[in-house]
Amino acid sequence: MLLEVKNIRISFKKETQKKIFGKERQEIIKGVSFFLEEGDCLGIIGESGSGKSTLGKSLVGLLPPNEGEIFLEGINLYGKKTRQEKEQLNHLKSVVFQDYISSVNSRFKVKDIINESLKILEKKESQKFDKKNKTLELLQSVGLNETFLERYPHELSGGQLQRVCIARAIATKPKFILLDEAVSSLDASIQTQVMNLLKELQKKFNFTYIFITHDLPSVTYMCNKVIFFNEGKIVEQVDSIYRLSNVETEYAQNLLNSILEIDIYENQ
Ligand SMILES: Nc1ncnc2c1ncn2[C@@H]1O[C@H](COP(=O)(O)OP(=O)(O)OP(=O)(O)O)[C@@H](O)[C@H]1O
Ligand SMILES: [Mg+2]
Repeated sequence: MLLEVKNIRISFKKETQKKIFGKERQEIIKGVSFFLEEGDCLGIIGESGSGKSTLGKSLVGLLPPNEGEIFLEGINLYGKKTRQEKEQLNHLKSVVFQDYISSVNSRFKVKDIINESLKILEKKESQKFDKKNKTLELLQSVGLNETFLERYPHELSGGQLQRVCIARAIATKPKFILLDEAVSSLDASIQTQVMNLLKELQKKFNFTYIFITHDLPSVTYMCNKVIFFNEGKIVEQVDSIYRLSNVETEYAQNLLNSILEIDIYENQ
């Protein structure tokens, strides 16, 4: 098993009442459990504010749950780890954030952003390679050319910067990548190119993905499992994409219908 999530709960301090009721907290993730096998692609769909990004952050080691445990390749993400385990985890996972603008160093050029990942790969594979060529290769694989190498993040459009972040995420050849709304805002042809690339990598290296998205076509194209998420809980889990239309809960049915309606509207 690659990822095992055991009954996690996450709560934040309530901002408005913090001063008066010092300990009042709002639970955002309310007991979530699931697991992923290597090579799985899981889509997480849910309404805005339901806690998807919060869950995502905890899955990649950035937000310790208040309760419960998360295991990646058997290593407890928030437990005591040996140096070797820490390194293993570093090489294992990557993330493309929903808020990609703040996830890059604004003083780094595109080539430096990707170079950081390539240094990790060199360490992982204990070999040096031509980083300039690799950087260009990676950029091209997300539909960008060499003219982007010397540019700074503020000189890129949102979609271009997001693609740089995707290139950075795949550069380390991680086994597990979390993509939080990472492809939904790209235009159709680039979206297809990026998804095809992710699929290719999945075949080649048996990558495991989590796709947090509102975009149903990308889920049906990429994912074999789907979680419907609402108010911090898993409402329904579909373990075969072919059974997506047979969802049982009213929440999942309504969500699917509302997404389909928007898609039809947008494609008219
Ligand atoms: N650091 C934080 N401190 C306090 N509250 C937070 C924090 N991060 C998230 N929240 C709250 O947790 C809830 C869930 O937020 P989250 O970003 O996980 O939602 P989401 O499902 O990803 O939404 P969207 O689809 O809009 O991206 C929101 O009500 C948000 O205000
Ligand atoms: Mg989010």
